[in-house]
Amino acid sequence: MANFPAKRLRRLRYNPLVRDMVRETVLTKNDLIYPLFVVPGNNVKKEIRSMPGVYNLSIDLLVEECKEVEKLGIPAVILFGIPEHKDEVGSGAYDPNGIIQQAVKAIKKEVKKLLVITDVCLCEYTSHGHCGVLNGERILNDETVELLVKEAVSHAQAGADIIAPSDMMDGRIGAIRKGLDENGFTEIPIMSYAVKYASGYYGPFRDAAQSAPAFGDRRSHQMDVANTNEALREAETDIEEGADIIMVKPAGAYLDIIWRVKEKFQMPTAAYQVSGEYAMIKAAGKMDWIDESRVMMESLLAIKRSGADMILTYFAKEVAKVL
Ligand code: PBG
Ligand code: ZN
Repeated sequence: MANFPAKRLRRLRYNPLVRDMVRETVLTKNDLIYPLFVVPGNNVKKEIRSMPGVYNLSIDLLVEECKEVEKLGIPAVILFGIPEHKDEVGSGAYDPNGIIQQAVKAIKKEVKKLLVITDVCLCEYTSHGHCGVLNGERILNDETVELLVKEAVSHAQAGADIIAPSDMMDGRIGAIRKGLDENGFTEIPIMSYAVKYASGYYGPFRDAAQSAPAFGDRRSHQMDVANTNEALREAETDIEEGADIIMVKPAGAYLDIIWRVKEKFQMPTAAYQVSGEYAMIKAAGKMDWIDESRVMMESLLAIKRSGADMILTYFAKEVAKVL
């Protein structure tokens, strides 16, 4: 190093107060979005096998959970629904009395200072577990988009504050924007899962949502893990179609993607620390192989540092307690 001994980077590290002063990235409660899984029934609280501390909740207990989330100062939840019945076309997704529609109404009635975001996709509602309607083993894009529009509008009618399409069909953001606007929801933002990879990290989620595909996988619509430039095209397309917030998912293994998307578009950018990322940290923590709460903070700070403005994370409640 050229300027040693005059230049000593450790000077700003000896003292914790100085370290606090020069810290470049801070995680705050405002960055957090907490995912929740709603199931039919009453008084149901069932822990998800591969996600310790995360539960399938019936609407009554979901409302209680939301009150706690609000009290902890977390600004938003995102809801996933597991319907009573699944069918070929995922009818439960756009049923005005479906599980999510009922859940949103119940939360909105009792919890005032909490944003309710709804995940829009069909895979939790189809008997085959695919994200759209099928012709044989092919997922039909345009036919699926029509159903997604119905789903999104029904969520808004139930009172959802933000709509989050996670399906990765082409053209769905534009179609959903149009559907929302035509139904009077011009002020409801869309948080698009713009860059969603066909990732192995979603395994535990599929336990939680009982949404594993019956055959095949999601590679015909989710992105190839190897691609970066394509991520920029996906984000650009969704922005042109009217997305207000763009999301990159998963987060931890895709910090380069978050960084490039943020750099290029300067949009409000969300990152989803997905079920597998959570499960791995939890499992290693349980084995005493890592310091779980330290790695939790480090993983979230890294996501923020890479350019995310907000983070969807199953750690939200735990982090909020620490912050
Ligand atoms: C639905 C959806 C998935 C996730 C969010 N929305 C599952 C999938 O695409 O298979 C994954 C979230 C997680 O793993 O935590 N399309
Ligand atoms: Zn899906």
